[in-house]
Amino acid sequence: KIMILFGPPGAGKGSQAPKIVETLGIPQLSTGDMLRAAVAAGTELGKQAEGVMKSGGLVSDELVVNLIKERIAVDDCSKGFILDGFPRTMEQTKMLDAMLAEAGEKVGFVVALDVPDEVLTERICGRWVHKESGRSYHIKFAPPKSLGEQEPSAETMLDDETGEPLMQRKDDTEEALKSRLENYHAMTVPILDHYGPAGVVHKIDANRPQPEVWASIEAAITYQN
Ligand code: AP5
Ligand code: ZN
Repeated sequence: KIMILFGPPGAGKGSQAPKIVETLGIPQLSTGDMLRAAVAAGTELGKQAEGVMKSGGLVSDELVVNLIKERIAVDDCSKGFILDGFPRTMEQTKMLDAMLAEAGEKVGFVVALDVPDEVLTERICGRWVHKESGRSYHIKFAPPKSLGEQEPSAETMLDDETGEPLMQRKDDTEEALKSRLENYHAMTVPILDHYGPAGVVHKIDANRPQPEVWASIEAAITYQN
């Protein structure tokens, strides 16, 4: 089972991924999470990626393809995996297809979360994340239990499971979002046309409350299996 979780910044990829992981029993591979971990660890890769990410640009194809290649080689990917935030350019798509073909595999399923651009600013600017786990919260749409009726702050926004403080991503600004959306439409959307003819693309209206979006994803992946 090789699946791509597709959609613009703020579509809900990271929010829905844990439920898909649980249902299919295969891991989520998020290039964004991997890159943020590299930045936090201060590795060579992290240093190269940091500035580009902060401004909402795309990290080079070679860098992310190598990250994915190394990650796919790990044992827990033997039964399949869910790609979140990858591929993002046609070049990455070609490299992914070639890499999978070598192993006699191919992309079996694309879940494409559809959300109009206008909705994404509020989602992105209100997002808080738990760095360690990648769990996403929202001040209005998905508040942590700790918030209650208080104002969102580092003291009131705490992870439900660990109680650790949440934080805001450096690229979650209106300005960086503008570049991220431009890149998405110019570089990433064409990937859907590439997989369309194989009949593996399932578009889902993700401009609805999270449980409704999940119900549609669950129906799609259950039907497929
Ligand atoms: P990445 O981490 O992949 O970011 P992204 O694609 O911009 O996507 P997001 O993580 O912002 O959105 P999401 O869909 O996961 O939203 P979430 O579920 O959190 O990449 C970051 C950067 O790394 C890139 O800009 C680039 O620089 C680099 N990079 C990564 N991969 C790369 C690649 N392959 N090639 C080159 N560069 C790469 O939800 C968002 C918010 O909305 C949350 O607050 C959530 O609570 C809320 N929410 C979710 N669903 C709903 C709903 N249904 N209703 C209301 N609110 C909702
Ligand atoms: Zn994400």
